[in-house]
Amino acid sequence: MVDILKIERLKGGYGGSEIVRDIDLAVAAGEGVALVGPNGAGKSTFLKIVSGLLPAQSGAILVHGEDASRWTSAALVRSGLVHVPEGRQVFPGLSVEENLWLGGYAAPHRRRELREQVLEIFPKLGQRLRQAADTMSGGEQQMLAIGRGLMAAPRLLMIDEPTLGLAPVVVDSLIEALATVRERLGIALLMVEQNAMLAKEVCHLAYVMVGGKIVLKGQTESLTQEDLMKAYAGH
Ligand SMILES: Nc1ncnc2c1ncn2[C@@H]1O[C@H](COP(=O)(O)OP(=O)(O)OP(=O)(O)O)[C@@H](O)[C@H]1O
Ligand SMILES: [Mg+2]
Repeated sequence: MVDILKIERLKGGYGGSEIVRDIDLAVAAGEGVALVGPNGAGKSTFLKIVSGLLPAQSGAILVHGEDASRWTSAALVRSGLVHVPEGRQVFPGLSVEENLWLGGYAAPHRRRELREQVLEIFPKLGQRLRQAADTMSGGEQQMLAIGRGLMAAPRLLMIDEPTLGLAPVVVDSLIEALATVRERLGIALLMVEQNAMLAKEVCHLAYVMVGGKIVLKGQTESLTQEDLMKAYAGH
């Protein structure tokens, strides 16, 4: 089967600076892949390059087997790659309903069906449809950010640190929702998560990034805290 996303020897950063180097990574249809690593490793930079927000300096980005290195963000979204960035970037003054509606720009004819799907996965959003996004709790804003991503009908959802700063009970419900997204809707996930043990719940494969490079790749099931500490320390 052709991978939804295949990255080969990818290099990139801001301006001339090289932040990520020699990245090889693949995500197949319906698969859950975690990207873990310490602060400043380059995880968010990597997602920005893959989603077309930053140009790649070299290497290949293949989407369904096609060279997508020069595709615009909009073209990548249309091909099913949707990025939910760090920091729950919802449209603050707009309601939940309006945020979801705008998220549906890439699949306008499927808006109603996708909205139903999102409200089934995040019933709380259904109770908050008229509320301004920035007046909701952090957990609800994260649900909305993911919901908005789902409105674009992704084949692969790339999520940057969805659980950061949230209370454990909220984290649990978000992780459960992401498991549903993958298992029931068959949407592949590429998830950046500081807490590798948490990523295990949704992702079977993990890549560990340190200093802009992938230093370890393995099944999440067998990944231990000790493996991570060693990788982070450069052993
Ligand atoms: N807009 C920017 N311009 C220049 N350098 C940047 C920019 N954003 C991030 N960097 C630098 O790129 C490097 C990687 O940052 P990045 O945000 O990708 O790391 P990260 O792994 O996502 O970290 P975190 O876990 O803290 O989110 C850091 O050295 C950071 O200072
Ligand atoms: Mg980051």
